[in-house]
Amino acid sequence: MNKFIAPSILAADFANLQHAVEMVNNSKADWFHIDVMDGVFVPNISFGMPVIKAIKKHATKTMDVHLMIVDPDRYISNFKKAGADILTVHYEACTHLHRTVQVIKAEGMKAGVSLNPHTPIAVLEDIICDLDLVLIMSVNPGFGGQSFIENTYKKIEQLKNLIAYSGSKALIEVDGGVTDKNIQQLSEAGVDAFVAGSFVFKSENPSETISNLKKLASK
Ligand code: DX5
Ligand code: ZN
Repeated sequence: MNKFIAPSILAADFANLQHAVEMVNNSKADWFHIDVMDGVFVPNISFGMPVIKAIKKHATKTMDVHLMIVDPDRYISNFKKAGADILTVHYEACTHLHRTVQVIKAEGMKAGVSLNPHTPIAVLEDIICDLDLVLIMSVNPGFGGQSFIENTYKKIEQLKNLIAYSGSKALIEVDGGVTDKNIQQLSEAGVDAFVAGSFVFKSENPSETISNLKKLASK
């Protein structure tokens, strides 16, 4: 099974975004992970459509957009226009999650749902077969550079079981605190896609760090 590395642009130097995008283009990374924060769903504001459009102009890889915003339904088509390929919304931010997922797919994007660390996997039971991806937050969303929450392993196991017995094709993605110390164990636990922000961008050689993560995940 292919393993996907998704560097999080949140940790890049925003004054030098084109450089960061080209680094990812020329690396072993698979996806761009793009974190959108509204200052309401999470206590931080990142960036929105104009920045995503600017990234898309140079990006040659899949745009994996993670919405940490309330009422994402209002913007689904705008994110498509901005260049999203995968659009992930938070379970906790969607009253009519089934409808939201259908609209994302009708717009021609892959649909993902993310769960906060305290949200149990069981809430996905009746939607799992409609999903292309489940994003398990392994930190509380809002900031890069936090440490990995160990309870995530239990949730990965539960999600793997739910996917297996439902026959869902959803990929499992983990976001927050991913490093060279835990990526192999996460991969063995069943994770398909790995978001890594500060571990990649704060390293001396981000491209080499990505290659190393890809190697460890694919072992
Ligand atoms: C956190 C974001 C993450 C973040 C990960 O709210 O969703 O994608 O950028 O950053 P690191 O890898 O530094 O934990
Ligand atoms: Zn994210």
